[in-house]
Amino acid sequence: MRSQLPSTNWLLSPSILSADMTQLGAELADLEAGGADWVHVDVMDGHFIPNLTMGPIIVAACRRSTRLPIDVHFMVSQPDPLLESFARAGANWLTVHVETCPHLHRTLQAIRAMGCRPGVALNPGTPVEAVGTVLELVDLVLVLGTNPGFSGQKWIPGMAKKIVRLREMLDLINPSALIQVDGGITMETLPEAYRSGARVFVAGNAVFKHPDGIKRGIEALRSVKIQNQ
Ligand code: DX5
Ligand code: ZN
Repeated sequence: MRSQLPSTNWLLSPSILSADMTQLGAELADLEAGGADWVHVDVMDGHFIPNLTMGPIIVAACRRSTRLPIDVHFMVSQPDPLLESFARAGANWLTVHVETCPHLHRTLQAIRAMGCRPGVALNPGTPVEAVGTVLELVDLVLVLGTNPGFSGQKWIPGMAKKIVRLREMLDLINPSALIQVDGGITMETLPEAYRSGARVFVAGNAVFKHPDGIKRGIEALRSVKIQNQ
């Protein structure tokens, strides 16, 4: 796990769900200049969850505007038929929800065969045991800190325990896999999620809605003191 991490020991993946879509290119430039590590793209179908967002055309636009790795989070009822188009558009990481994949091994193997890094995501109500049989196939496990659909919601406190348990399971089976945490990440919640074992942090509002702009939003999260870092 450590070898994939920068000197800060954790990665920041701002979610463009909170970006100003009329200024996407400029906001991606700010992310890069401000020191973000990845760009998080939330794909929602209005069926698996109650919101409808972005398709591969947005990933292709991001690819033209930034060199940062693009991290796609599929919150759709049927991700399989969509994966290839996102890989072709330039995505680097493709993460699917365990709740949506009846043939999860096949889906994760297909993602790797497309040349992307596979991840699996869990809703807050889904126990970590649900992904126990696929941990050796993934490079990342995404733990939702809020019920997915919208930015700016509050972190659900019980999620820290889930991250601790997941890290224990990964350390036995696939120690190099990363835990990504998504939803409700702020200067207040980031330290607990870090101490629990998360090393990739998605942040929407904390970055894009910072009153002093995107770069200050990133700086604020980077300035958080993490015990034992
Ligand atoms: C939530 C999405 C998140 C969201 C996070 O449904 O998966 O990526 O944009 O936004 P914040 O950080 O504002 O909770
Ligand atoms: Zn997300």
